[in-house]
Amino acid sequence: MPVTIHPIDKDFAAEVRNIDLAGGIDAAQTESLEQALAEYGVLVFRRQPLNDAQQQGFIERFGPPIVTQLDELKNARNHNPHFIDIATVDEDGKPIAAESARGMYLLANQLWHTDGSQVQPPVRLTALSARQLPPSPPPTEYANMRAAWEALSPQRQALVDGRVAEHSIFHSRAKIGMRMSDFSEATRQNRKAVTHAMVRRNKRTGRKSLYLASHASHIVGIPVLEGRALIDELTEFATQRQFVYTHQWQSDDLVMWDDSWTMHRSTPYSEPHPRVMRWCGVRELEPV
Ligand code: OGA
Ligand code: MN
Repeated sequence: MPVTIHPIDKDFAAEVRNIDLAGGIDAAQTESLEQALAEYGVLVFRRQPLNDAQQQGFIERFGPPIVTQLDELKNARNHNPHFIDIATVDEDGKPIAAESARGMYLLANQLWHTDGSQVQPPVRLTALSARQLPPSPPPTEYANMRAAWEALSPQRQALVDGRVAEHSIFHSRAKIGMRMSDFSEATRQNRKAVTHAMVRRNKRTGRKSLYLASHASHIVGIPVLEGRALIDELTEFATQRQFVYTHQWQSDDLVMWDDSWTMHRSTPYSEPHPRVMRWCGVRELEPV
């Protein structure tokens, strides 16, 4: 049976039905989802209980899986290098301490970002599976960077189109108070800043979008503070309510998003009930 795509918010975010992710998907289904990602950016799959092997089988249909680089997260659940734990408790059910590396990682997710822009090639698609939700799960917010680009003034568009910004994990982590000494020596050495185009064009739709993230520190060719102020201004512009889809999590949801033209953030959560999500993704094939 062909998958069906049900738009949630006009042309941003859609629910996908008639699909069983645990059983594996075929080429035609993969193509339908690629097209839906290009058109809607965020895809919601309800009632898809998955284990890691099934989630990984699913994401690998779309490209080379990400290998988690952060040493600081190495001890996360079951050591699978293709996964990141987005969880408020560790594998023994003990709360993640706010000041631990994993606690800081969770906190940084509250900054508007796109996954993996601090690496080159960056993450292209992310799949996040809700494995255990609290009674009132905190929602996740998604920003439509295509709509934001299209709503920008022609002056602003001309200012950023064709420019590249520098992205670094240390920039976003500094925003939550981390210092270089909080990172392992290997991380400090390996996580060199990278540059990305600030405006990208989707190959399927031909439509442009802004490419920003908490990791974006400044703009090449513009004085650092001026570029930083422009990144902040654009981020604020792009995350206005009219560009945002708020996802209310239900048990066994899988949400997949296109990192090339969306941003997202988690929302604050401090209750004792565990929230356990599993993250995996695929990267772009070429530098962008
Ligand atoms: C992520 C992320 C947000 C959340 O998994 O990449 O930013 O609400 N998560 O957990
Ligand atoms: Mn993220």
